[in-house]
Amino acid sequence: MIQKCLFPAAGYGTRFLPATKALPKEMLPILTKPLIHYGVEEALEAKMDTMAFITGRGKRALEDYFDISYELEHQIEGSSKESLLDEIRELMEKCTFTYARQNKMLGLGDAILKGKPLVGDEPFGVILADDLCLNEDGFGVMKQMARVYEKYRCPIIAVMEVPKDEVSKYGIIEGDVINSDLISISNMIEKPQPNEVSSNLAIIGRYILTPDIFDIIENTKPGKNGEVQITDALLTQSKNSMVLAYKFKGLRFDCGSIDGYVEATNYMYKKKFENV
Ligand code: UTP
Repeated sequence: MIQKCLFPAAGYGTRFLPATKALPKEMLPILTKPLIHYGVEEALEAKMDTMAFITGRGKRALEDYFDISYELEHQIEGSSKESLLDEIRELMEKCTFTYARQNKMLGLGDAILKGKPLVGDEPFGVILADDLCLNEDGFGVMKQMARVYEKYRCPIIAVMEVPKDEVSKYGIIEGDVINSDLISISNMIEKPQPNEVSSNLAIIGRYILTPDIFDIIENTKPGKNGEVQITDALLTQSKNSMVLAYKFKGLRFDCGSIDGYVEATNYMYKKKFENV
């Protein structure tokens, strides 16, 4: 069973400036719960109970969110508002939270490497909380992936089909089809032009990784924008051992973009208040 889940959350979130000048992107709310809350719930559903956050400057609100606020709790004690804290209290009771900092924004690969002391020598989940994933009809994406891991015991990357003219926004995988949900990866290309790839399977912010990835990241040279790309490290890994892409069931909202964030908010609002 996988116990730990890493949450790289050190990015600047420049697409949401000026809001993200003083507020971590992961603390932006979808209705009343911040994005990070949904991510932690998803990890917990997959039976991961140790949440390892990679934070950076200006991200202290993340730590405060998963801590007791004595003043506030005292203020609303005994009132009808007390129940509004039930969900976060439950997460705090059930999970352990650990933190490491990424001092320089050197990319997602580097952020994951900063999690090495928190994760240790075990397989672990990775959730990018700005990708909000929901599955109304069944298990959350991380739980779906944990089940695939139990069977194949190798790294797993969540992917989804995107329109061909949008492949340049994503990391794209190519490989051999195992079944309707799984592909054994043979190639990964970061933000390709449509004519550079034969596939439209885009990587989203959910991974299950094995601890050998840390050595590989350490030996991965910076790629596009001078950043250490996790895609480059996973491509190296896929040359030596099996790395699977998993077509998850459910919805994914890119809440790191304004369009995706508004779409997610509208979707959740309709679900909660209009029973759609
Ligand atoms: P993004 O590409 O969305 O970057 O990172 P960003 O900086 O957060 O947002 P924009 O593009 O400036 O608006 C994807 C994920 O990887 C994390 C981010 O926190 C986000 O969850 N990340 C990225 C890091 O933790 N460290 C990095 O150096 C880069």
